[in-house]
Amino acid sequence: MSVRSVITSILLIAVSGFGAQVALAQTTHPLYADLGGEAKVTAFIKDAVALWEKNPVLAEAFQSADSERLQGQLVQQVCSLSGGGCTYKGRDMKSVHAGMDVTTAQFNALAEDLQTAMAKNAVPFGAQNRLIALLAPMKRVIVTK
Ligand code: HEM
Repeated sequence: MSVRSVITSILLIAVSGFGAQVALAQTTHPLYADLGGEAKVTAFIKDAVALWEKNPVLAEAFQSADSERLQGQLVQQVCSLSGGGCTYKGRDMKSVHAGMDVTTAQFNALAEDLQTAMAKNAVPFGAQNRLIALLAPMKRVIVTK
């Protein structure tokens, strides 16, 4: 084996090792872990739903919602979106919110309350923003008014 091929092999091993580390970091440390895992996600979703139900901009929309069912679906959805390994089994965002005439102001109020609930549960600011960024594109199908 020439010196050059030895160096190439070492480089390849180093590069693939680095790649494996990146892959490992992605599989073992997703956003879900940064959010605090199941206990914390459950806690901040519960707090968020309570805030939505008393927020003047949102209260009417949530008046007849089944809070416990909603919380369960949201915890599952957040887990699924943030790499926690769950499968969201609820209804799709377009059909759930169809006919609610959701406004941009309501969408923003809901996101703000969610952020407040995460802050209350000491979710790091960066993780809060990453979750909000994952939810933001849903605005296209949820806001219809
Ligand atoms: C990123 C924003 C949002 C997300 C991720 C989201 C997610 C969800 C999920 C997962 C459900 C439960 C689905 C199911 O039961 O199968 C749900 C239900 C509901 N959402 Fe949203 N939602 C969002 C924005 C909004 C906004 C802005 C409003 C109102 C102003 C709203 C009002 C409701 C109501 C009232 C229900 C209960 C429907 C029912 O059980 O009859 N949502 N949402």
